[in-house]
Amino acid sequence: MGARITGTGSWLPARTVSNDEIAATLDTSDEWIFSHTGIKTRHIAGPDESTASMSAEAGRAALAAAGLKPEDVGMVVVATSTPDYATFPSTACMVQNALGCRNAGAFDIQAACAGFIYALEAARGLVELSRRPALVIGAETLSRIVDWKDRGTCILFGDGAGAAVVEYSESPSLWLSTLRADGSGAPYIVREGGTRPGPDGKPLPAAPLAMKGRNVYNFAIKALEDVTRSLCAAAGTAPAELDCIFAHQANGRIIEAVARRMDLPLGKFYLNIASTGNTSAASIPVALDQAARGGALRDGMRIVLCGFGAGLTFGGTIMDWPGASGGVRDNRDTAK
Ligand code: COA
Repeated sequence: MGARITGTGSWLPARTVSNDEIAATLDTSDEWIFSHTGIKTRHIAGPDESTASMSAEAGRAALAAAGLKPEDVGMVVVATSTPDYATFPSTACMVQNALGCRNAGAFDIQAACAGFIYALEAARGLVELSRRPALVIGAETLSRIVDWKDRGTCILFGDGAGAAVVEYSESPSLWLSTLRADGSGAPYIVREGGTRPGPDGKPLPAAPLAMKGRNVYNFAIKALEDVTRSLCAAAGTAPAELDCIFAHQANGRIIEAVARRMDLPLGKFYLNIASTGNTSAASIPVALDQAARGGALRDGMRIVLCGFGAGLTFGGTIMDWPGASGGVRDNRDTAK
């Protein structure tokens, strides 16, 4: 028994904002941004777009690719840190309604930029138990929570959504995951505005995303390397034998450093950050969809998905695309 990905979809807003446009209002430059991040431009949601609306577009495309009707879906899972509402209703409920998934449950997952990795694994477990398809989405409208006057953060992020349909499968192949966390790094990426009390006992007001970039950078390189190595060890695969690595597109320099440390050619890593920026939970499913539709991702390829984010969270999945787990199904077996 197992689960496989039977369709992918993605949605990027039509509006793009280049480094030069940002540099017109901020003390930065295209040269600085590109040389420190690998980013050239990013998509920014239009006034009528939201995390839920972009999720629905990506989800619709994934269902079409899988050849499923909305009523076939058993669960809608949305990974996001930028939900339409602060707490509830969940973005997944809005997507369930927008798509007409009338037989589905729906819930959100908050694991920041590692959210899609977490959501995919949660969906796999549910699909194997229920034998009903799940629609898994990673989506963000980060442009609405960054401080556009903070050159250390606003240059990094973009908006978008990516989706994958996970279906039950009788034919097992490789699909192993590891989901990890290190809450001691919580202060590295924070967005206030929850119920956490300030000195006066009242909840702290909502604030833009705040980040200690250098700390995140150092953590990220180690996390991506550790996850990839531990997944390869669990699967009995040398990293050099992987066909493609879909690492979270946070910063091209981070991915280059991981490639160097692992002695892998950069060409093994799928890269689209130059045109998307960091779309957080959307980055891996958007990359998967682009690779699948562009022909870079073919059946039978052994791939790793790996991500990290606020929390801190990190994790990954190794699979023979398009999956169908039949091996180890317990994360503890693959986590170091
Ligand atoms: N343009 C020009 N200069 C900038 C700048 C910008 N956009 N952003 C920062 N700087 C400046 C700083 O002010 C600092 O100047 P100073 O030396 O005069 O004080 C200098 O560049 C170095 O700052 P630092 O923060 O150390 O830069 P960095 O090399 O670490 O690059 C990041 C900054 C944000 C690009 C990098 O740390 C990073 O990508 N971190 C990971 C972030 C991440 O992945 N977050 C998402 C997690 S999912």
